[in-house]
Amino acid sequence: MMESGTKRSSCVLLAIFMTISCLCFATSSKSILQTFTTNKNLKWKKWQKKVSNMYQGSWVQDMSYPLYNSSACPFIRKEFDCLKYGRPDHLYLQYRWQPNACDLPRFDGKHFLKKLKGKKIMFVGDSVSLNHFESLLCLLHAAVPDSIITEETNNSVRTVTFQDYGVSVKLFNSHYLVDIEQEKIGRVLKLDSLKDGNTWKDMDVLVFNTWLWWYRRGPKQPWDYVQEGETILEDMDRMVAFRKGLITWAKWVDSDVDTCKTKIIFQGISPSHYNGVEWGKPGVTNCGKETEPVSGSTYPGGSPLALQVLEDVLNSIKKPVHLLNITTLSQLRKDGHPSSYNGFRGMDCTHWCVAGVLDAWNELLYTAIIS
Ligand SMILES: *[C@@H]1O[C@H](CO)[C@@H](O)[C@H](O)[C@H]1NC(C)=O
Ligand SMILES: *[C@@H]1O[C@H](CO)[C@@H](O)[C@H](O)[C@H]1NC(C)=O
Ligand SMILES: *[C@@H]1O[C@H](CO)[C@@H](O)[C@H](O)[C@H]1NC(C)=O
Repeated sequence: MMESGTKRSSCVLLAIFMTISCLCFATSSKSILQTFTTNKNLKWKKWQKKVSNMYQGSWVQDMSYPLYNSSACPFIRKEFDCLKYGRPDHLYLQYRWQPNACDLPRFDGKHFLKKLKGKKIMFVGDSVSLNHFESLLCLLHAAVPDSIITEETNNSVRTVTFQDYGVSVKLFNSHYLVDIEQEKIGRVLKLDSLKDGNTWKDMDVLVFNTWLWWYRRGPKQPWDYVQEGETILEDMDRMVAFRKGLITWAKWVDSDVDTCKTKIIFQGISPSHYNGVEWGKPGVTNCGKETEPVSGSTYPGGSPLALQVLEDVLNSIKKPVHLLNITTLSQLRKDGHPSSYNGFRGMDCTHWCVAGVLDAWNELLYTAIIS
């Protein structure tokens, strides 16, 4: 309430930007507009509760999907290009996410580009962020196939620019969000250090994700020691480490990010499907034979503990952050992974085919930030 005039008006603008997106959830858009000019924390939480409706629902067959022809998309790497690598069943492409409470607007790439004109959106995280980024690029490319699209990589940032709209879609690879540094003793995962933030906070929209690497051990583990404060350990409880890393990120948001300018989204935990017990098929150890989603709204395996940890940490942030709460809806999509239909022929039940489930994440992202 004590903000300066200019700061306040930019917050109001952002609020309008975000209010329109939740018309189908909000009973009174005016009260949401006030969210950012009065008690941000409390009202934001109420608002988020309303928007969180769109993550509860089920998958319905819709023959008007997929939203684009993946063979015509130049951005899909071989790990995610399931049709190219011979996936024979195509039903997985024809599901639409249907929230219980309202209808999601269909993704409109031109509208997205017009609304984000001149803006920069960045995905920050592991290979699931890369996966998500490629789906968004395909959706946008399909909307404006003949426009000028340029690509460059600067240090750790890959940037694809839709020149006719001045919209940049960026990817910053970061396994843990917090730092890993090379020191005399070896590679140290620093749970309370986040140096890349200066690159991130310049963006208009940030979509964060981290989870996949926190339980990596052995040769796949990209660090030798883990450090918190002055304490250096060879290892620690990984869920505790995950929480500490997220708290460092959360403190960075509160201290360094101007959320009037930069919209912060955190993607929920992306589920893998290697344990059939979770979806009622004991003995099944991968997603290789799955061609249909779990029906209904409930995943028998329940919600992962990591999502609880993430929600706890997000609740501790004073500034507005939106949880792109894709965990349950993606758990239902045991059919959405590349399995063996990818360019390296391994069994992958962690990433997602493009086109596919991630297009729904992007429809939700679109709704959360602009539609
Ligand atoms: C995220 O979705 C799950 C499952 O639908 C739900 O239990 C949880 O409350 C949601 N979290 C938030 C913060 O909306
Ligand atoms: C998809 O795109 C490919 C490559 O441009 C093209 O050969 C094919 O005919 C398209 N398929 C459909 C259904 O439009
Ligand atoms: C890449 O780096 C160069 C030199 O630092 C800079 O001029 C250019 O704007 C950068 N490009 C992007 C997309 O950030």
